[in-house]
Amino acid sequence: MINIAIDGPSAAGKSTIAKLLAKQLGYVHIDTGAMYRCCAYQSLKNNIELNDLIALDEMLQHMEISFDKAGNVFINGEDVSKNIRTNEISMRTSSIAKILLVREKMVAKQREMAKAKGFILDGRDIGTVVLPDAEVKIFMVASVEARAKRRFEEYKMQGVDVDYDQIAKDIEQRDYQDMNRETSPLKKADDAIEIDTSLLNIEQVVNKVLSIIQKKEKQND
Ligand code: CDP
Ligand code: CDP
Repeated sequence: MINIAIDGPSAAGKSTIAKLLAKQLGYVHIDTGAMYRCCAYQSLKNNIELNDLIALDEMLQHMEISFDKAGNVFINGEDVSKNIRTNEISMRTSSIAKILLVREKMVAKQREMAKAKGFILDGRDIGTVVLPDAEVKIFMVASVEARAKRRFEEYKMQGVDVDYDQIAKDIEQRDYQDMNRETSPLKKADDAIEIDTSLLNIEQVVNKVLSIIQKKEKQND
């Protein structure tokens, strides 16, 4: 068994592919974006301003984030899987994820969860910061148009009324924030393999990553 890091911008397909790969390989998937989303959700719920580091620290100390096998996310035992996926939380998450205190806590927790082999983590800084020794690192990208279209379809399927242009704008703004922040910005690790998923369906991406993993596993035998 090995560890697999998948990084890239929003809607490149990271968590969908990570989830399917974990199922096929019998690995454990950790969606690290969901953890930062929990921080954003909890701070909003408790009316905590993002510049109030004392209140944030207090909040983090009393917040236990956990996942079940199906990938549902819990804060102190409460299922927040749906609540953390709104557009408002996405934008707040990108802001809270810049804060060093928040990153340190989340990275420590992620390393603790993935201290053995057999984990697939997806996020922005997995290959660069969280698991720099991961045997396979994938940097997943796609055009803004492809990614906005995917999110648009997702919202439409959920019956949420959204504007395509606004989604595209929000994605671009979040890309910019994530790539230009001082702490652990989104960037390709030197040893990561880039996959552009703009014109690939989910099965094609899964197969591409699987062949990279199998090659690596053979080398390790
Ligand atoms: O699902 P989507 O790709 O839109 O977002 P996500 O993976 O749930 O991540 C939400 C936000 O969390 C990102 O825009 C980043 O600002 C932040 N994040 C991060 O900073 N580091 C990670 N390892 C994962 C997410
Ligand atoms: O985790 P990340 O934000 O990178 O993306 P995701 O939430 O896994 O995928 C965003 C959406 O794109 C999902 O609805 C996927 O079903 C879809 N998708 C796709 O249509 N084609 C791909 N090759 C990958 C994902």
